[in-house]
Amino acid sequence: MDKRNASNLPVRKAVVPAAGLGTRFLPATKATPKEMLPVVDKPAIQYVVEEAVAAGLDDVLFITGRSKRPLEDHFDRNFELEEVLRAKGDTERLEMVEHSTDLATIHYVRQGDPLGLGHAVLMAESHVGNEPFAVLLGDDLIDPRDPILPRMAAIRAEFGGSVVCLMEVPRESISLYGCPAIETTNADDVVLITDLIEKPDVTDAPSSYAVIGRYLLDPAVFDVIRETKPGRGGEIQLTDALRTLATMPADQGGGVRGVVFSGRRYDTGDRVSYLQAVITLAVEREDLGPELRAWLTEFVAGLQ
Ligand code: UTP
Repeated sequence: MDKRNASNLPVRKAVVPAAGLGTRFLPATKATPKEMLPVVDKPAIQYVVEEAVAAGLDDVLFITGRSKRPLEDHFDRNFELEEVLRAKGDTERLEMVEHSTDLATIHYVRQGDPLGLGHAVLMAESHVGNEPFAVLLGDDLIDPRDPILPRMAAIRAEFGGSVVCLMEVPRESISLYGCPAIETTNADDVVLITDLIEKPDVTDAPSSYAVIGRYLLDPAVFDVIRETKPGRGGEIQLTDALRTLATMPADQGGGVRGVVFSGRRYDTGDRVSYLQAVITLAVEREDLGPELRAWLTEFVAGLQ
């Protein structure tokens, strides 16, 4: 495979890793991927696929693990259900059910052992080839009103290399994220990344920026991951591969930039933030919001 000249290619494919063990959500995730947990009434992963499609990435590769059935079924036809809804004349729900099937061209590859996010991304190599690609994690939901992938793609088109999405977070929560050392650039929302640390102690954090789950990666990342030793938690970390890419020359696919996101993002990665995300999104919904808001107000008053 020709590994050169990837720098001018557009991003066309999205990779969605969903092979993690999801231990923080056990027992819900015993037989169901964490990404299938509903956020209000839609699995987290569907929001992510909709975001990719809205950015023009309708070729989506899921990296799956042992429990991939619910994922496959969700994005496949369900003739029986469709027939029942059609017979009832329930076109609204029928459209909902068909929508997840028609959304994108979906491909699957198994990770085998969940050896880390970096290892999961490496599984995408034969599908992606020598093209830049997006990685979207189901733990982060980006509000469709504040799309970030187009801005990231514009930075990739201008500079090549890889682009990650950053958010400023309170100092005390930086140890939940990958954290970059940065240099500012001429653009207010773009930084050059010089180093990266996965989940640093507060005192070691080189900035107050957190890497959140959106990446546009140069295909040079595959060779780098292959050479990346297990890091934090004994896992092959994508952060460690990005750290190497950050110091590599541009003509070898190196260079990592960060786009600072200041829009609405909902974290579904741990139980408390997941519950907060569900409530936030449900309160905003026209069909559920008014009733939920009234109940919440009373409920909260009862807590005082
Ligand atoms: P997390 O670090 O959140 O891990 O993975 P996890 O296993 O899903 O969850 P916990 O910590 O045990 O509760 C971040 C993303 O990377 C994927 C996960 O599915 C999630 O989308 N991942 C992680 C893989 O696909 N493979 C891995 O080996 C590890």
